[in-house]
Amino acid sequence: MSDEKRSSFTGKLGFVLAAAGSAVGLGNIWRFPYLAAKYGGGIFLLTYLVLAVTFGFALMTAEIAIGRKTGLSAIGAFKKLNKKFTFVGWLAAIVPMIILPYYSVIGGWVLKYLYAFASGSAVAAAQDSYFGGFISQTGEPIFWFVLFILITAIVVIGGVEKGIEKVSKVMMPVLAVLAVIIAIYSVCLPGAMEGVKYYFIPNFSAFSVTTVLAAMGQLFYSMSLAMGIMITYGSYMKKDVSLESSVSQIEIFDTGIAFVAGLMIIPAVFAFTGAAPEKAGPSLMFVTLPKVFESMPGGTIIGILFFLLVLFAALTSSISLMETVVSIVCDKFKVKRIPACLIVFFGSVAIGLLSTLGYGPWAGVTVLGMQFLDFFDFISNSVLMPIVALLTCIFVGYFIKPQAIIDEVELAGKFKKKALFVGVIKYFAPICIVLILVSSVLSAFGLFTM
Ligand code: PHE
Repeated sequence: MSDEKRSSFTGKLGFVLAAAGSAVGLGNIWRFPYLAAKYGGGIFLLTYLVLAVTFGFALMTAEIAIGRKTGLSAIGAFKKLNKKFTFVGWLAAIVPMIILPYYSVIGGWVLKYLYAFASGSAVAAAQDSYFGGFISQTGEPIFWFVLFILITAIVVIGGVEKGIEKVSKVMMPVLAVLAVIIAIYSVCLPGAMEGVKYYFIPNFSAFSVTTVLAAMGQLFYSMSLAMGIMITYGSYMKKDVSLESSVSQIEIFDTGIAFVAGLMIIPAVFAFTGAAPEKAGPSLMFVTLPKVFESMPGGTIIGILFFLLVLFAALTSSISLMETVVSIVCDKFKVKRIPACLIVFFGSVAIGLLSTLGYGPWAGVTVLGMQFLDFFDFISNSVLMPIVALLTCIFVGYFIKPQAIIDEVELAGKFKKKALFVGVIKYFAPICIVLILVSSVLSAFGLFTM
């Protein structure tokens, strides 16, 4: 990155909020609820929580410490610590390149819904066929997708990070409060109690390898792990800020919002359909929430506010994704910031088109039985990120050794969960990831059913 970028966050609050701004996004509000609905509700929630306090904690600590120790972003950081591991930095760097295009497609859907609510089409948006009708078109979803990524690019070109940080400090808490209000309303809908039970009471018979795989992929995605982002953020962190408590706060914030988002959507699905959302997929938020808003007094206003805040959460995340990709392009191809932004913009539009068209006119084209968007999601979350996470664990556990991370953490106080950290990084995480990766790849090729 250019020199002016290698600034540092002013203090702990600045760091925590910036990291949380990247972490809290569509992953929490759109992705978490549909995965929870799909993978058995309570059992998914439990699996996710267990992974968050073990895996999530250890990996995030390791990544931030690697960044702070080296003062570099992913590629440079791995290279500096051990030349042979430079490729891990590269692998991590590919992940945001894959995520950014399809993330922007969904960001476009959010824009469309914001527009629908603001232009008085709230009732139409609550119809079952509205979402399907929208994404199966050709031009409209492309329009909203390009608009979303254009906004992202303009912000990244302008580099108005300060502005974004300031706005985040206001918008993020507002989003949290609004989500809690909508969740309370959802839970009180007639028939919603079944959904609350489904969400809270784990049904152990629904547990399988897929549950763990899905929860783990979601964890990486939601916490912006295994893609070099936390390494970069760590490189901006001051040495006297407590790393351990920062990690806990980011996790609580990120998991808290995801948890409330589930509570906002899942009970409502039961209230409106009377059953578990069997075929829950990427459309869940867009189909269920408009119905909640429609039945709510003042629903149109709440709907506008809600989609505005989701849009904002999505933008802060897509900006951090694009920023990462742009900085790699700048470094690698020795181009300036603006040409790099243009390359990334056009490249992402081209790749993102596959995802939009894949839900529309190209619905018949599938990769490994998945639509393009789901395929990109699968490749990044279920294949690349676990590989990067595994290599990071091996790197820390057996090459630079956990002590290197512990020393970095202890620059600001005692590392309380030291034993947990070492156990997870050296044994628990690598073994789990290998098992899960093998089964996920086999199942994608139809060689193994989970
Ligand atoms: N963590 C973000 C979310 O939950 C997505 C994201 C991933 C953002 C990677 C930045 C980098 O939506």
